[in-house]
Amino acid sequence: MQDSDTPPLADDTPIGRAAQAAVTVMARVGEPLPRPAQTRVMVVANQKGGVGKTTTTVNLAASLAMHGARVLVIDLDPQGNASTALGIDHHAEVPSIYDVLVEGKPLADVVQPVLDVEGLFCCPATIDLAGAEIELVSLVARESRLQRAIAAYEQPLDYILIDCPPSLGLLTVNAMVAGREVLIPIQCEYYALEGLGQLLRNVDLVRAHLNPELHVSTILLTMYDARTRLASQVAEEVRNHFTSEVLRTSIPRSVRVSEAPSYGQTVLTYDPGSTGALSYLEAAKEIALRGAQADAAAADATYVADGVPGVYAQQARTIEDHSTMEGQSTMEGHR
Ligand SMILES: Nc1ncnc2c1ncn2[C@@H]1O[C@H](COP(=O)(O)OP(=O)(O)OP(=O)(O)O)[C@@H](O)[C@H]1O
Ligand SMILES: [Mg+2]
Repeated sequence: MQDSDTPPLADDTPIGRAAQAAVTVMARVGEPLPRPAQTRVMVVANQKGGVGKTTTTVNLAASLAMHGARVLVIDLDPQGNASTALGIDHHAEVPSIYDVLVEGKPLADVVQPVLDVEGLFCCPATIDLAGAEIELVSLVARESRLQRAIAAYEQPLDYILIDCPPSLGLLTVNAMVAGREVLIPIQCEYYALEGLGQLLRNVDLVRAHLNPELHVSTILLTMYDARTRLASQVAEEVRNHFTSEVLRTSIPRSVRVSEAPSYGQTVLTYDPGSTGALSYLEAAKEIALRGAQADAAAADATYVADGVPGVYAQQARTIEDHSTMEGQSTMEGHR
């Protein structure tokens, strides 16, 4: 069966695509989303291979940028799939995350702008990174090298999304030390929950010993095929296990989503009107609104503790009302 995606764009130049994407996205998105009070560093992790980590990282990042945020994608997988999908050169000589982690190069020296999407940046990964797991072992502060590099990066950013490799080695540990939030994509397939316990135990370990703020903030169901009973069973099981973390939006299986990387593009520019693009935009919106609610709660806590009015409290309360209404309509849409 064909999905209901729209055909590719007629104007197949980068500027034409960007303009078309912006028009389509602005028509769908409306106003820009609230920006987080401080940079949100999100670790996209699942040691299971092929569950949609990279696809989710690049498409969410592009969605957030199109919503008006400044976003950096850090490709932490030697496969370099996120770099490819963002159209970023990552052959062996390109300065990359390897130089940052192993050689101590500043992150600013390796970050490149993503040409198709304003406000989106990428720190590429090259094949060198394949040796980093071993090279890092003998280095000082081996688990916190990424965290230090991010702390020294002075460009203003709203989000950093880190695309992890399908393993729980030192690269993923570096990401978990650098980030505050873990985003787990779960593919709506049999065995979806297998190995998740191990991932959650690793999050607990890193939280206990290296990064007390780390928590699983977001779970996203990917490659959801509404035609199969299995997908809805898996989705139900995940929603029963993790209640508040699971986004209401799930990402459908869509040909356009899987085609986009071969053109060095996210689905947001490849086919902005497709179901995949719209789902990622919706997921990004949920993530931004949830973040605003968390900021509001933190600001209110400050108010209670110090008697100082929380700057974001009033603004975010409005957002909360809005999001509750949105939530109801989205849920109705799924029924
Ligand atoms: N919503 C979707 N619809 C159709 N295909 C998808 C979708 N999401 C991901 N894919 C495809 O599934 C495959 C795996 O996705 P992806 O590379 O994002 O997973 P990954 O978890 O990053 O994999 P790895 O563990 O190897 O890093 C890719 O070929 C991708 O194009
Ligand atoms: Mg990947």
